[in-house]
Amino acid sequence: MATLADSGLQFTSQPLLSPVGDDQRAAVLANPGFGTVFSEHMVTIEWTEGRGWHDATIGPRGPIALDPACAVLHYAQEIFEGLKAYRHPDGSVALFRPYANAARFNASARRLAMPELPEEVFVESVRRLVEADRAWLPEVEGGSLYLRPFMFASEAFLGVRPAKQYKYLVIASPAGNYFKSGAPAVSIWVSEGYTRAAPGGTGAAKCGGNYAASLVPQAEAIAKGHDQVVFLDAVEKKWIEELGGMNLYFVFDDGTLLTPPLSGTILPGITRDSLITLARDEGLTVREERYSLGQWREDAGSGRLVECFACGTAAVVTPVGTVAGADGEFTIGSGGPGQITQKLKNRLVAIQRGEAADPHDWVVKLG
Ligand SMILES: Cc1ncc(COP(=O)(O)O)c(C=O)c1O
Repeated sequence: MATLADSGLQFTSQPLLSPVGDDQRAAVLANPGFGTVFSEHMVTIEWTEGRGWHDATIGPRGPIALDPACAVLHYAQEIFEGLKAYRHPDGSVALFRPYANAARFNASARRLAMPELPEEVFVESVRRLVEADRAWLPEVEGGSLYLRPFMFASEAFLGVRPAKQYKYLVIASPAGNYFKSGAPAVSIWVSEGYTRAAPGGTGAAKCGGNYAASLVPQAEAIAKGHDQVVFLDAVEKKWIEELGGMNLYFVFDDGTLLTPPLSGTILPGITRDSLITLARDEGLTVREERYSLGQWREDAGSGRLVECFACGTAAVVTPVGTVAGADGEFTIGSGGPGQITQKLKNRLVAIQRGEAADPHDWVVKLG
C-alpha cells in the first residue's frame, strides 16, 4: 500500500491562537447533538493542475476566503465523506473502516471529474485531525467525533469544465444521537413526486448536489409529520432505493434479510456493507435484490415482513416503524425495534467501540 511519503506530502502544523477553555468545551460536550458544534482544528490540502496535491496543513478551524467566481459556487463540483472516531474502553481512539471511506471518496471524485486523493493521505488527514482534537470526543453515551472530509473546485472561472484547482478539507464535529426525538423507531414518507437519482446520474457518488435535490422531498416528509423520506427508482417509480442519508434493510419472518442492490443510483453505504458481513457471520441469508413499494406494503400487512431498519454512519441502525405515502400508511411488525435489528446493531456498535473482537480488521486504532 502507498504510504504518505510516497505522496510527497508533508503536513505543516499551525498553532491555535486562542484555544477553547476546558469548561467551555465540557459544556458543549455534555449535549453535543448532531452537526451543530465543531472542534478547533481543520486540515487543508490544495490541488493544482500540473502540480498535484500540495500545502497540507493542520491548523485552527476558521472561515475560508473564496473568489465569487469560485467554480463550486456555480457548477457544484463538490464531494464529501462522513466517518466517526470512537473512544475505546482502553482509552485509545479508533476509526471504523476509514480506507472504505477513502475509496468511496475517490469513486465520487472520478464521477465528478475531480482529482483523486491517495487513500493514505485521506486516512492520515483524518488521523491528524482526530489526534489534534482528541479532547473534543464526547464522553456521553453513544458519543463520537464525526469527521467530515470534503473537496471542492476552488478555481475562479466561469464555464462548464472541470476546474484546475481544488481544496480538500477535514473538519470534525462532536456528535451525540442523530435523531433528536430518541424515539424507538422512525416514521418514513414515500416520495412519489420526487426522485433522488436516475441511472447514469450521480446517485452512487457522495456529492453535495444529491443532497440539495433531496431537501424539498425531505421537507415534505417533515411537513407530513414523518422523520425521513424514502426514494423510489426514477424509471419505474416502483422500487425502493434509500432514504435521504441512509440505506434500508428488510427482515422477513423466515429470518432472511434483503437490501436494495448497488445499482448505481444509491450510495454504497459502508454501514450497509458491514451489516451484510455481520449478518452472514450470524448465519443469516442476505439478498441484495430489488424490492417494490407494493410488495413492502403487502408483506407488512401479511406479517411476512417483520422488521425494517435504516443504516448509516450518522444514524447507525435505526428501526423503521411506519411507512406513509399517497396511498395511506402501514406499520412494520410491532412498529418498534425488532430482534434482528437490535442484534445486528449491537454487533456493529460493539466492534466500532472496541467492546468486541474485530474479526474483519475494520478498526484502525490511532493510539
Ligand atoms: C444517501 C446516503 N445513503 C446511505 C448513507 C450511508 O452510508 P454510510 O453507511 O457509509 O454512512 C449515507 C451516509 O453517508 C447517505 O448520505
